[in-house]
Amino acid sequence: MQPISELNLGFRDAESYKTKDNKELLNRLFLRNHTLDDLTDVNKYFMIGEKGTGKTAYAVFCSNNNYQNTHSTIKYIRETEYKKFVEMKTSKHLTLTDYTNVWKVILMLLLSELITEKELKHPFWQRFSKFKALKDSVDEFYYNAFSPEILSAINFAEESSISASILNKNFQLIGSEKNKLEFSETRFQVNLLYIQKHFEDALSSLSLKENYTLFIDGIDVRPYDIKFDDYLDCVKGLGNAIWSLNSDYFGNIKGSKGRLKVVLLIRPDIFNSIGFQNQNSKVRDNSIILDWTTYYNGHRQSDIFHLADKLLSTQQDNSLDVGMAWDYYFPFNTRNVEYKSTGLTSFVSLLRLSLGRPRDILVIISILRENFIENEQKTDERFQEKDLTTAQFTRKYSDYFLGEIKDHLSFYYPSSDYEYFIKFFQYLEGNSRFTYDEFIISYSNFLNFFKSNNIDFPGYCDSPDQFLQFLYEANVIGYVVDTEGKPYFGWCYRERSPSNISPKVKTGVRYDVHYAIKKALDLGKKFKKIR
Ligand SMILES: Nc1ncnc2c1ncn2[C@@H]1O[C@H](COP(=O)(O)OP(=O)(O)OP(=O)(O)O)[C@@H](O)[C@H]1O
Ligand SMILES: [Mg+2]
Repeated sequence: MQPISELNLGFRDAESYKTKDNKELLNRLFLRNHTLDDLTDVNKYFMIGEKGTGKTAYAVFCSNNNYQNTHSTIKYIRETEYKKFVEMKTSKHLTLTDYTNVWKVILMLLLSELITEKELKHPFWQRFSKFKALKDSVDEFYYNAFSPEILSAINFAEESSISASILNKNFQLIGSEKNKLEFSETRFQVNLLYIQKHFEDALSSLSLKENYTLFIDGIDVRPYDIKFDDYLDCVKGLGNAIWSLNSDYFGNIKGSKGRLKVVLLIRPDIFNSIGFQNQNSKVRDNSIILDWTTYYNGHRQSDIFHLADKLLSTQQDNSLDVGMAWDYYFPFNTRNVEYKSTGLTSFVSLLRLSLGRPRDILVIISILRENFIENEQKTDERFQEKDLTTAQFTRKYSDYFLGEIKDHLSFYYPSSDYEYFIKFFQYLEGNSRFTYDEFIISYSNFLNFFKSNNIDFPGYCDSPDQFLQFLYEANVIGYVVDTEGKPYFGWCYRERSPSNISPKVKTGVRYDVHYAIKKALDLGKKFKKIR
């Protein structure tokens, strides 16, 4: 077995696996489970998962490999793209429908580019005159220098009178358009529909043997200087465009074996914010939900355990049976809350600290390894349960855990609101368990803080129940219902399912702060009363 210091645990964010050098590493570490097959289903075009559940990892894996006869590419929306959208919205007075149409053009342009890039070796598209006319138009518009990123694709839609004229000229040359048309700059919407129609014509004229999938990532990071409403409009336009292209158009292309698809990587709460019509059926029929839930007793058969075990076993020279590598590096049984050893293996100790997401597990193991090296431990030593409770570990893990919450919240709120949210825990007076009544008291003291300091309330605390729901959705607290047998623990990430994409917290019961937050904020010790 490799010494701990020699283990290469890869990256916390799967975006790093896009580079050539890291592609091999992802192929080695990647757990190929049923989600990959779900992705080949032409009816699934929303990949929904909380932070760190592997959205990017699946998309990058598919882009790096021609999986199941499918060529894929992943494109990110970043700050500059959003800015451009917001500018365009103001200068061209765009409505949500216009936004959707702009996105459709962008997505079809990127897909066309993927097709030509993959098929360039066999210039089959020369045979498809409409597609060739489209390709020639793109080349002409960009002076043969189209860089297939969203930012440059926006220009094609934005400068609609120029792109429409070029399309008109090239489609005339192949005889599919009779007249030369004039396109006025002021008739943006009309131009856009013209462009869109020609993309649709060209793409549906192809007879493809292979499938093409475009993944769109990066919508959950809101640049701090873009207003929430502007941002949400842009995301809504994108969501609607993806829905409409896939269901109304790609699904109806006849005569081609290969299929086209655009997949949006999205967090469940943001999916919910888009407010799709018939949201429930879209979740059920058109989404893949990344769910790594497992229970302590059955965890050895779970995907999340297999993922962690694979991370360790693929580093070895010999192939090992499932669980062997894990048991080698983590040779202890987990202890229960009274610190008594149980019959469950050590993986449960990691699950307890985490929200059961791949990134949590990976980060825990990485921190343990880092500490192992910092402490200059002997090469033949392995991890022990007490390594998970040292201050050195807790500090680093808390930083990570709070950082993930901060990123999660940044979609909705400015960073100052995150600082205030942390402050709320002071008003719990150090308690990590509280009743609804105690919560109400802490909430009202929390509000008094804002009032007495003349600060506007953050957006999440309009009412106590709204704030409670907010804490629950961020997986900071879970509710506890006492039953005749064991109490029932309700955690948002566990209760979320295709039929309940946005679970609700129960009011009027008891609550527990998540173990990792409790450690991060040093709860569980009585604080001095705040005055
Ligand atoms: N099937 C898998 N096999 C191996 N590793 C995985 C798998 N799924 C996810 N991971 C690992 O888990 C980590 C988190 O995954 P990823 O970055 O894809 O999450 P995400 O859902 O995109 O999160 P965010 O919302 O923060 O962007 C990465 O290190 C990734 O490589
Ligand atoms: Mg990601």
